[in-house]
Amino acid sequence: MKRIFIFIFSISILLQQGNAQINGQDGKLLAPTPPMGWMSWNFFADKINEKDLMEMADAMLSSGMAKAGYNYIFIDDGWQGGRDNKNNMIADPQKFPSGIKALSKYMHDRGLKLGIYSDAAQLTCAGYTASLGFEEQDAKTFASWDIDYLKYDYCHAHEDSNTAKIRYKAMADALRKTGRDIIFGICEWGERQPWKWAAQTGGQLWRTTHDVRDKWKKRPTESWGLGILDILDTNAGLNEYAGPGHWNDADMLIAGLYGKKGPSGDGGGTGCTDVEYQSQFSLWAMMNSPLYATNDLRSMNEATKHILLNEEIIALNQDPLGKQAERKINNDSINVFVKPLANGDVAVAVLNRSENPQSITINFSTLGLTEKYAIRDLWLHQKSASGNKWKGVVAPHETKVFRLIKQSK
Ligand code: GLA
Repeated sequence: MKRIFIFIFSISILLQQGNAQINGQDGKLLAPTPPMGWMSWNFFADKINEKDLMEMADAMLSSGMAKAGYNYIFIDDGWQGGRDNKNNMIADPQKFPSGIKALSKYMHDRGLKLGIYSDAAQLTCAGYTASLGFEEQDAKTFASWDIDYLKYDYCHAHEDSNTAKIRYKAMADALRKTGRDIIFGICEWGERQPWKWAAQTGGQLWRTTHDVRDKWKKRPTESWGLGILDILDTNAGLNEYAGPGHWNDADMLIAGLYGKKGPSGDGGGTGCTDVEYQSQFSLWAMMNSPLYATNDLRSMNEATKHILLNEEIIALNQDPLGKQAERKINNDSINVFVKPLANGDVAVAVLNRSENPQSITINFSTLGLTEKYAIRDLWLHQKSASGNKWKGVVAPHETKVFRLIKQSK
């Protein structure tokens, strides 16, 4: 009787915990830090092929991105060629003549990993074959191709939360059953508050909003199309739900797209300035969002490299403590974020949301940071002040990021 009680008690505790973690086959946490890489969707849409993806992998290595921590190539929607006569999913033979297994070998040979995409319905968002009813078979196929990550979308599926939980759990269980560690990215766009249940169903991360577009903010005249600020304003309040092995996913980085091409150009995505791209990168890193670039890595300009390769900012995102920044000051002109780090340092980000430069003084003690610090500017890569305050000008839409190092150290 007592044992049954304890069993029921533990199950109910588990169910209440929004952030139950899934471990890999070796018992270690899957996705202990947010995944980093390059995702095909916003640049190519479904016009992908193995040659372009291999070139993107080569560029990830030659540009220094792999060294900076980006190690996934994520194939998004559009790779599918239907099912064979045994209902096994196959890749489009025109786009992937060598097959997906050969592509993952290409990645693994270079120290990279490969992600793939499917959907919890019969068809994906772009109308390709998806996995509903074939979860175990498809998970086995992905494992046999040595896939390392699955992004699982929710187009064409029933809207209610229960169905979503059941369908996501079915695929998460199927992935675990394969015996291969495949990270599971849930993508139902935050519609059913996945931060409350996605980790329990077996996801290591979950999108919190609809798709990012290449813009700063949705304009009052636009009925859809989220920009950087719109996503920030949803994702920032969800810090309590994130931690090692379970992350809020704020969607792709748009740095380097410049409004040129792909789905990010829909819904008013006319492009951003480098200052805005730099802000997105800073804020996504502070919020522990996965860092997925989606620009053409083969032809990045210096400004984009300067953003995506800032290793001091990346270190905040990959910090082992895994604490998503808390937005401590939130008004129409200024936002201030605070993120504790594993070694006792603290990261502070200051965003100017307004259209004018602002002279700002931050007294760190008002943020609960009462020590004396060496204040390192992570974009200038130098110490910019010491003590307990920072004073300076923040340009419109700019984000300053500081690492506060206790001076007694
Ligand atoms: C949805 C997702 C996007 C992308 C497309 C592919 O819109 O949110 O990130 O995967 O589907 O069709």
